[in-house]
Amino acid sequence: MLHIKNIKYSYDKKNVVLSDMNFELEQGEFLTIAGPNGSGKTTLIKLITDLLKMKQGTISIASMPHDLPQIKKKVVYLSSEDYLPEFLTGFEYVKMLCEMYDCPLNKEAMDRLARYYSLDRKLHELIEGYSHGMKKKIQLMSAFLIEAPLLIIDETLNGIDVEAKEATKLLLKQYQKNGGAIIFCTHDLELVEEIGERVILINKGEIHIDGMIRELLNEHQSLTEVFKQLINYEEMKDEISKYF
Ligand SMILES: Nc1ncnc2c1ncn2[C@@H]1O[C@H](COP(=O)(O)OP(=O)(O)OP(=O)(O)O)[C@@H](O)[C@H]1O
Ligand SMILES: [Mg+2]
Repeated sequence: MLHIKNIKYSYDKKNVVLSDMNFELEQGEFLTIAGPNGSGKTTLIKLITDLLKMKQGTISIASMPHDLPQIKKKVVYLSSEDYLPEFLTGFEYVKMLCEMYDCPLNKEAMDRLARYYSLDRKLHELIEGYSHGMKKKIQLMSAFLIEAPLLIIDETLNGIDVEAKEATKLLLKQYQKNGGAIIFCTHDLELVEEIGERVILINKGEIHIDGMIRELLNEHQSLTEVFKQLINYEEMKDEISKYF
């Protein structure tokens, strides 16, 4: 469903942000992407969603170039920012997105989702008055109503309450069961272990690990342990005990 080939990217001439990135994602696959701050996760996502123009390499979605207008309707991207149209109500926002994706608004499903996300009494209020977590929730609700073939989530689960997080985990599993592919970027490695299947660990713009979480956990105590090796944890520990 998604093919990424030989992607290289830099914002300026000095710093290479992504160097030779290659991977594929099949329909119904749940891929988590993790990596330190600044390792290139959001840049990669912005290239996939054509928010950044490619400089080198190719990306195809459903066997077509990723920048075709009809392909953009196959991808829903929930960004790590929460800039939403504040002059719309939550309901108007959801409705607008469904229209953009040519997806009839399923009111019954919307009401159920609003209940899981405790937004039922807020749907007809302006987004302007929504808290950070409520803005995340209305974005998640829209994604689950649209059910695009590829759902990309960049950190959207940060800052939502326990009930919403648990509902989201179940909804993501169901999304996948229904054949949707998911890319889920997060720093929450415990969550990755809990709900993820395959993980790509990016470091300094390169794929450090691309593997199945279950297999990694056979070799390592936890994904945090894998990460600690990446960041020279032991060296940092020695330094901290000496200098602080
Ligand atoms: N608009 C921009 N202009 C110049 N450099 C940028 C821009 N956006 C990101 N970068 C740089 O690209 C690199 C990768 O950033 P990116 O946002 O992709 O990282 P990330 O893995 O998503 O990090 P985080 O975990 O903090 O979200 C960083 O060095 C960052 O400073
Ligand atoms: Mg990011």
